[in-house]
Amino acid sequence: MPDRRRKSRLAFDNVGLKPLIRKARLVLLDPLHSNPRLPWAQAINDAQSRLQPLQPIHVQVDVAGLSRALRLVWMSDLHAGPTTGDVIIEQAARAAAAFEPHVLLLGGDYVYYDAHAVERLRPLVRRCAGSLATLAIYGNHDCYAKRTPVMSVLVEEGAVELCNASRVIEGLHVAAVDDYAFGEPDGAAALRDVPADAPLLFMTHNPDAIVELGTRRAALSLAGHTHGGHVCLPNGRPLLMPTQLGYLAGRYETRWGPLVVSRGVGSIDVPFRTFARPDVLLVELRPLR
Ligand SMILES: [Fe+2]
Repeated sequence: MPDRRRKSRLAFDNVGLKPLIRKARLVLLDPLHSNPRLPWAQAINDAQSRLQPLQPIHVQVDVAGLSRALRLVWMSDLHAGPTTGDVIIEQAARAAAAFEPHVLLLGGDYVYYDAHAVERLRPLVRRCAGSLATLAIYGNHDCYAKRTPVMSVLVEEGAVELCNASRVIEGLHVAAVDDYAFGEPDGAAALRDVPADAPLLFMTHNPDAIVELGTRRAALSLAGHTHGGHVCLPNGRPLLMPTQLGYLAGRYETRWGPLVVSRGVGSIDVPFRTFARPDVLLVELRPLR
């Protein structure tokens, strides 16, 4: 497997601050890695969430070959852990449940480093469950934690694990790959049972893994991972660029079809975001007439 783990770029690479920033991250983050709850950090996160609430984003796509309209919710990067408060999780749950999704899509990074924190997400998964299905994929933080216990809790609440595999829901083929950097993504396996002309929705935690589609085009691909940069300058430029292909947030037209990248819900490393507002995607797929 090629090493994809060191591909992040720092915005200040060209002015020699990279070693300093890396050192500061190590020193500052070490206590967080071993601390499942930090009340002061969660209070900061809660305060920001009240001042600048999560943004529900509506996405509409006409899909050839689809037999009926479908409502999907894509929710990613919940990051239950020391720097994500309960307020933003509640806002995400409320937005998703109000949309009454046929399918709930969970886009990975359920925790920060402690797998047990996934327990905080049980009520959300139950409350927002899709009427037809709830599907869950892996993110890099689920690989840092113990992925089996994380996924087990989601499965207990009704989710179906989707990893290098596909499912058919009302004629829509939904395919997903494992995490791009710390899992074993296999696009060929994910697409093995998807006919060439079938309506296809592609799920990947890391938007860079859209390359796993190979020569296929999806009606829509959904991704998270980037947090929209998480800590950005006022011009939207992130301090740490989390994607090699430049798919930071929003909608992109790619050679593999349209891609929408969510900024996700929770926080890591620091209990706040700047110029990278949390969101969930409310996706309407309509049959192309
Ligand atoms: Fe994340």
